Amino acid sequence: MGIEESLFLQKYIDFGEKKAGSTTRSILVGLFAAFGGFLFGYDTGTISGILAMDFVKHQFPANRLSAEPFFTASESSLIVSILSAGTFFGALAAPLFSDRIGRRWTLILSSLVVFNFGVLLQTIAEAIPLLVAGRFFAGLGVGLISAVVPLYIAETTPKWIRGAIISCYQLAITCGLLIAACVNKGTSTRQDSGSYRIPIALQFAWALILGGGMLCLPETPRFYISKSNEDKAKNSLRRLRKLPIDHPDLLEEYDEIKANFEFEMQYGKASWLLVLKNVNRQHHRLFVGVALQAFQQLTGINFIFYFGTQFFQNSGIEDPFLIQLATNIVNVGMTFPGIALVDILGRRSMLLAGSVVMAVSQLIVAIVGVTSDSQAANQCLVAFSCIFIAGFASTWGPLCWAVVAENFAINVRQKSVALSVASNWIWNFAIGYATPYMVDSGPGNANLGSKVFFIWGGCNVLGFLFVYFFVYETKGLTLEEVEEMYIKVDKAWHSAKFVPSGIHEAGSSIEKADSEQ
Ligand code: GLC
Repeated sequence: MGIEESLFLQKYIDFGEKKAGSTTRSILVGLFAAFGGFLFGYDTGTISGILAMDFVKHQFPANRLSAEPFFTASESSLIVSILSAGTFFGALAAPLFSDRIGRRWTLILSSLVVFNFGVLLQTIAEAIPLLVAGRFFAGLGVGLISAVVPLYIAETTPKWIRGAIISCYQLAITCGLLIAACVNKGTSTRQDSGSYRIPIALQFAWALILGGGMLCLPETPRFYISKSNEDKAKNSLRRLRKLPIDHPDLLEEYDEIKANFEFEMQYGKASWLLVLKNVNRQHHRLFVGVALQAFQQLTGINFIFYFGTQFFQNSGIEDPFLIQLATNIVNVGMTFPGIALVDILGRRSMLLAGSVVMAVSQLIVAIVGVTSDSQAANQCLVAFSCIFIAGFASTWGPLCWAVVAENFAINVRQKSVALSVASNWIWNFAIGYATPYMVDSGPGNANLGSKVFFIWGGCNVLGFLFVYFFVYETKGLTLEEVEEMYIKVDKAWHSAKFVPSGIHEAGSSIEKADSEQ
């Protein structure tokens, strides 16, 4: 390591630095906002169980395309994926609201009004059309929430803990999925409409907790600065950091955020045009945000969470509901190491390691699934499915949200985060929609069965290459320092005309830029 590089590391990779009074309050606020992920996880988690419930299968036949006591590929496709279509539009619409009424009010309205309206429609639904409409509206709410929560957390938490708190958003998603699996299991044997109405209606409670709680929390200081409201920005910092309004640490942080905001504003106001303009490597950043979220979905994780029960059932496993519960427990449990290590090992190395673990385990699942159907083979299939989930949960699950939340300049942050999250949802939709056709054995379907894991494995290899070549390390940097890094990388790019491999590490990229000036 060169002397400049080590000096750089001392200056920037400073994740041990804590300022007076800033810790507990900010962490609690960030953790509460992360609960938004619970709504998202629970909402996606309910559906797989509901589709498999006896009562539901017989409740909707009058409105179904076939009289069979199971959903056809096209029915499951529509019911599962329509939520992601709603979330796609919700995520894209997020900046419209959060840049105008603020991050906090967007979260309040999207949970209490939009999401709850969707839940209401689903709760009263007795036929597929209303269920689908309800899932679309709930999706709009979830999309808004999923685009705003990581931003809210990134703008309220101190840098040394930021990655971990944003990752708690993913933990909340996994807890939502797990609780949904438990509730589904509990109500699945009921022979009345409570079997699906209870799991669906419980979502009113989650929305009330999020919306009600956000009413009591502050707006982010960065939002107020963007509205030139100095007093409110300082007051927000005071509440977040629990410091007197004239405390030197508070004033220093305020000045830092403000200076950065003013610097950003030199490049103009945040129109969509600006989001697409290549200022300070914005094209690169947008590409990273959008592609990272796409690759997160292409890991194949939601194959397990949307269709896992049927997959395990078709593989001849005795109690697929139990296995599905187990996969959810692994998902929650393995998110913890991810959170604990994100600000120590860094985003890049963890994403790379995660891709390797997932690709290898999926290859094994595919080979075992194709070549054998013995009891031992089934155990192997379950074990490697769990290893795949563990690999996802400890790396790509939490880290994609962290990278996206901290990757953009403030003036284009909200819109760029929204575009990246929309990419997550469009891929989520595409996979949810296409999977039954790819996997099912009915007429016109591809009947891939467990061979589908070859596809997910291949995508993970591509994901590895993508991270290796395009994702820069942002561990331990403030949002302002991330910006500085990109500006310097941009200079390095323009003077060197190529990017040496070392540029992916923040330290060496800055060293390179500096040495070339
Ligand atoms: C991530 C994905 C989401 C998936 C979840 C599983 O949050 O974005 O689609 O359901 O992980 O834990």
